[in-house]
Amino acid sequence: MRIFFVILAFSLVALVSIVGFRGSLFERPPIEIFPDMVRQSKYKAQSESAFFEDGRSDRPVPSGTVHRQYGDPEASERLDDDHFNKGTVNGDYAEGFPMVVSRETMERGKDRYRIFCGSCHGGVGDGQGITVEYGMVGVPDFHTERLHAMPEGEWFEVISEGRGLMGAYKDKLNVEDRWAVIAYVRALQRARLGTEEDVPDDMRGELGL
Ligand code: HEC
Repeated sequence: MRIFFVILAFSLVALVSIVGFRGSLFERPPIEIFPDMVRQSKYKAQSESAFFEDGRSDRPVPSGTVHRQYGDPEASERLDDDHFNKGTVNGDYAEGFPMVVSRETMERGKDRYRIFCGSCHGGVGDGQGITVEYGMVGVPDFHTERLHAMPEGEWFEVISEGRGLMGAYKDKLNVEDRWAVIAYVRALQRARLGTEEDVPDDMRGELGL
């Protein structure tokens, strides 16, 4: 019985603290336990500033700055390149890479993959990353027929926008890095399918073949 009153008392306190004082007027400022970032010192765009000599909060653009749409013809061409930026060609998922995949691309892809994907998808892409041990569910294995056949452009979309339970990574990986990750994943997939025939003759000895 006693426990019942204790629970009742706690519930009342909780109820009153959550809804009890809504709409009541107080003279003193409210107590803020977690003010979060309600008030911050910051400048809003095109506002005044007493700090800078010219009285503007906006800083002048450094001399020589080029608008991203103009100037370097190669860079502005890339902006119109749907394969590179969206992973599509004429609205369909693109097959293949929009750039030359070099050793450097692979190294970069490996580095980014290990940081941003391996925790869930596992170092070898088998879907057995460390988060799975801690209860992450539904992480797919990359070594399935479907994900082998999935066009590079669709991989690009999954990484950029996320899909299902998986989050978007476009704010963490720039466009080049996303392609580099895909190149590395392709290597992981290829590695699973490799046979003895893939080992170059001069390296066979090392593997005891
Ligand atoms: C926090 C864990 C987590 C991380 C990190 C993560 N993924 Fe995933 N990923 C998932 C889960 C969970 C799914 C299954 C999504 C679903 O089917 O709902 C998934 C699905 C996928 C799929 C399959 C989509 C499909 O069509 O079935 C691809 C491809 C993929 N992830 C690539 C990546 C790549 C590349 C990275 C790194 C840039 C990455 N993921 C990072 C959890 C993660």
